[in-house]
Amino acid sequence: MEPSAEAHAAQIDRKGYTVIEHYISPEQLELGRAFIKQQAATRNGEYFCIHGIEELSGTMFAGLALSTPFKDRMAQLYRLQSGREPATEEQVFPVIRCLQGRSGLKQSHFYHFDATAVTALLPLYIPTEGEHCGDLIIFPNTRHIRFNALRNVIEKAVLHNTVSQKLVAFAVRRGWLKPIRLKLVPGNLYLFSGYRSLHANDVCDPSMLRATALFHFGNPHHESALARSLLGANKRRAKLDHNGLRPVN
Ligand SMILES: [Fe+2]
Repeated sequence: MEPSAEAHAAQIDRKGYTVIEHYISPEQLELGRAFIKQQAATRNGEYFCIHGIEELSGTMFAGLALSTPFKDRMAQLYRLQSGREPATEEQVFPVIRCLQGRSGLKQSHFYHFDATAVTALLPLYIPTEGEHCGDLIIFPNTRHIRFNALRNVIEKAVLHNTVSQKLVAFAVRRGWLKPIRLKLVPGNLYLFSGYRSLHANDVCDPSMLRATALFHFGNPHHESALARSLLGANKRRAKLDHNGLRPVN
């Protein structure tokens, strides 16, 4: 039997992450991989990202984001972590991220906090050979959930600038900082608090493909107009609303 949301939340608090092994079946993994391969074939071997339910419509990724048990589990984790109810209209926001080629290298050691409290990561393709396999690097629970949107924005401005990101990357490479380093296994589901934990992926050999599906849920600042105007840059760039849907004109 799958552990309860309480057990998962306790593990995230204690260890910084939790994992559900073999979360999807080999057949589902093959379906997901077929979509990645089809998309990768049109991107000239370079980095790409696909955001939102609409862009992923008809894929297993949108299906998972829209499934009630999956959303319920994400919502339970949000409640347990934040002590608050999620916004009633909020949906799980899926993102496909594929590192390959030289442009994929620029995406490594890009330390950040997510805008949403709960992050689920489903690896699809992870290199297994060579020194650099794109491990997930987490500084677990670096900060608390901020319900003060302005404080969150200031904190992110300090930690999300190029200088601080390069400093953290340098310190990790030198071994001065010792974050958690996870060797990801395709088909497993990794859950952590992307909002509380500074995280990034390690370098990935440019000749290899590293593809992951990310699912985000639980915006602690859903009631803040300031946060709405300043956060969710990816979604704004993709011209999507907070649920990853294109606004109806
Ligand atoms: Fe993230």
